Amino acid sequence: MPTLDPALTPVLPRTAELTPEGHLALGGCDAVDLAREFGTPLYVFDEEELRETCRAYREAFASRYEQSAVVYAAKSYLGRWLAALVAEEGLGMDVVSGGELAVARSAGFPLERVLFHGSNKSAQELREAVEAGIGRIVIDNFHELSLLDDIAGDLGKRQPVLLRVSPNVDPHTHVKTTTGVLDTKFGFAIEGGQAEEAVVQALARSNLELLGLHCHLGSPIFELDPYRQANDVMIAFAARMGERHGLELREYSPGGGFAVQVLRGEPAPSPGDYAEAVVDSLRAALAREGLGEPSLTVEPGRAIVARAGVALYPVGARKELAGVRTYVSVDGGMADNIRPALYEARYEALVANRAAEPPAERVTIAGKYCESGDVLIKDIELPKLWAGDVLALPASGAYCLSMASNYNMSPRPAVVLVREGRARLVRRRETYDDLMRADVWGEA
Ligand code: LLP
Repeated sequence: MPTLDPALTPVLPRTAELTPEGHLALGGCDAVDLAREFGTPLYVFDEEELRETCRAYREAFASRYEQSAVVYAAKSYLGRWLAALVAEEGLGMDVVSGGELAVARSAGFPLERVLFHGSNKSAQELREAVEAGIGRIVIDNFHELSLLDDIAGDLGKRQPVLLRVSPNVDPHTHVKTTTGVLDTKFGFAIEGGQAEEAVVQALARSNLELLGLHCHLGSPIFELDPYRQANDVMIAFAARMGERHGLELREYSPGGGFAVQVLRGEPAPSPGDYAEAVVDSLRAALAREGLGEPSLTVEPGRAIVARAGVALYPVGARKELAGVRTYVSVDGGMADNIRPALYEARYEALVANRAAEPPAERVTIAGKYCESGDVLIKDIELPKLWAGDVLALPASGAYCLSMASNYNMSPRPAVVLVREGRARLVRRRETYDDLMRADVWGEA
């Protein structure tokens, strides 16, 4: 009996299987049929995988730390369907823009469970958030601190807030996604006294209710130690602020950044591994500093959605350069997944219509967009590919669609949700009309 390559099992949704025809199936749906029915490129999300992952994270933290909340980082991917699903699974949501907040609101997401992040929130975004009754706003800088105090005062509200502090811990990830070091645009640095000054100011503002502290080191973080180090630094800082200024740490968030396995043979820690590292080091630091237990908020984004999403691309052109390289082009690329071009991110791939076939050649998978840098996968061993084959890229659920663009005036892909043999269109493919919808040229 042929099977899917077991080395790919950890990067595919848990429902992935091989059909008798040798096709890849997701959530009981044949991926080749999905590509035919809904068109390509197509993003397929597996509902069971999503729900199980939400539960695994909730359980991993709740079983170790009662007062804990898992808040989904919506920047990794957001649609109204996903907001509704995440709410049903008991998670909160981290939004970073008025737009993400608008989507959450329109899906009826419980706003008391929403946190608002961002290094330069506008006055309008802050006003919208306060008016809507958002759970917490995470203040990033002095400008925002006074702006938010004024806005909350104007609206006659006292807004619960956290302060984002940079603990100066290096998470050893890509430089473009490292955030918790000293030289970053995010948050108040402890070194030099800005974070202390922010605590003093926030406590003095009558329209802000300072609940606690937040940090986010970067992502994806494959190591556990950076979380331990950050907890030590942050809790020691909280204790100093308590002694000097009366800060009471009621909530603490070490952010997100939990990694997922994207490549064969490169596993990531499990939800339980992350929860244990975070909770154990937090408890130890609190005990050392003589502090009581604050509520704990974590913000995984990719760890919730990456594995549930598989991108399907049809194969087109083939260019063989003897002794140099073979390019195989797909109908998709940097407009729907900019991560390889932006961060040298790597992906696995399999041929959805010949999913059990062993590799036969080394190729480079190129996108269709007008740039040499539009390469989805450099050098991968695959069965020989021909026009009409359907290429599946696993672990594409995070930061592909949310960073997608209309580059080269390309309509963004459709999204389907699969479960138990049924496929539901949750976002239709954009049309040429969509591309011109906001273009008001020629209108009176
Ligand atoms: N919390 C905060 C404050 C964040 O800034 C982020 C991500 C997260 C949570 C969620 O991180 P995650 O768990 O998803 O790793 N576009 C990049 C990632 C940038 C992430 C920015 N902030 C990528 O494609 O990898």
